Amino acid sequence: MKLNISDYRRSAKARLPRFVFDYIDGAAEDESCARRNRSDFERVSIVPRMLRDLTRIDPSIELFGDTWRQPFGIAPTGFNGFVHPQGDAMLARAAAASGIPFVLSTASNMRLEAVRQPDGVNWFQLYVLTERSVAEQMVRRAKNAGYRALVLTVDVPVSGMRERDVRNRFRLPFRPGPAMLFDLCRHPLWLARQIAVGGPGFVNLVEQEGPVPAAVGAAALTRDMDRNLTWESLAWLRRLWDGPLLVKGLLHPDDARLALTHGVDGVIVSNHGGRQLDAAPSSIGALPTIVDAIADRIPVLLDSGIRRGSDIAKALALGARAVLIGRATLYGLASGGEAGARSVIDLLATEFARVLTLCGVASAAELDRGALSDARFPILPPLPSGASPVLDDPSRRAARAPAQRDAVTETLADERS
Ligand code: FNR
Repeated sequence: MKLNISDYRRSAKARLPRFVFDYIDGAAEDESCARRNRSDFERVSIVPRMLRDLTRIDPSIELFGDTWRQPFGIAPTGFNGFVHPQGDAMLARAAAASGIPFVLSTASNMRLEAVRQPDGVNWFQLYVLTERSVAEQMVRRAKNAGYRALVLTVDVPVSGMRERDVRNRFRLPFRPGPAMLFDLCRHPLWLARQIAVGGPGFVNLVEQEGPVPAAVGAAALTRDMDRNLTWESLAWLRRLWDGPLLVKGLLHPDDARLALTHGVDGVIVSNHGGRQLDAAPSSIGALPTIVDAIADRIPVLLDSGIRRGSDIAKALALGARAVLIGRATLYGLASGGEAGARSVIDLLATEFARVLTLCGVASAAELDRGALSDARFPILPPLPSGASPVLDDPSRRAARAPAQRDAVTETLADERS
């Protein structure tokens, strides 16, 4: 019986070869950021209100002119073809059938033209590789194919160190060693499906259908990103894309302000599910300062760590307009293909509606900070503009205003206790 996302995770673990499960489930280095994503959600509490009219619960939201039936969409994930050869299209169909958006990754294993759902909200996620012409042709194709929004992922100037992948020797070209061969034999259905299609490839990276040049595939694999991509580069993207442009991977309020200055249409607070900088704060912890910096001028979205309908409610109450789901729908895809992904979407939708009702809130749009018990959520106080949360050295602490110093000290004391 699958009652929650942990049950789907267990099912995915049983069905996938170890190296594929670890690729999805794993995170960077000690995986402490991934754990923080969860534990910080658990530290947020919602104080329910009673005796309100709850005859109709409306979980839907409006964003960039589209109605989402739920306040969540599916986050971009690369290599979905390793979970299932048709993985990208299955997730896109599950999303469209549920009335929620699907964000297709640059590192997808199906072409964007084939994945787009005519009745869905289709978004495209962009990685800018060193060879910028690859990004240019992809943006052009996404526009021609009718994708609604472009999500520029900015937290991968270099790949995070995913130690599980290294230990499992998961790299392309795919040359399984004895341990992996033994593991593959224990998953004959998965193996047969992969053999039938010749394994996943970065087929989306080239303009025309056909073989992917080795150099392009290798650049995508090693995540050979353009390190010269800066805020100023957004002007280049703007010339190529006139629809909604979102930046994914922000955690610092000053970056949120820069996003505003550079005219983006939305920001996604994200630490890539803990897969990049292991020392990064949780997304839910970083959200309030970013919401304050943005001050309602553009929508703020969040991902990383969402496993329950109540997590969605907490993010919305702290100011996110919507959230994206990464691993949870992949666990569903692994455990039951398209139907499995839909079950996970239904599960989160059911949980979210129940949470709204239990909180005495009739619609997603009504969730606000008033619904939270702030006292039980010791997030760090807002940083003065220009300050970096990276280092908290004593000289800087002394330079802060006394009131703020007290707040930091109390917060840290809270966290230690
Ligand atoms: C990702 N993520 C990601 N992000 C992105 O912008 N482009 C990508 O290609 C990928 N690929 C990818 C693969 C896998 C297997 C995972 C798990 C994640 C990050 C993703 O969009 C999202 O930020 C996180 O997955 C959110 O965290 P949760 O929901 O997985 O905890």
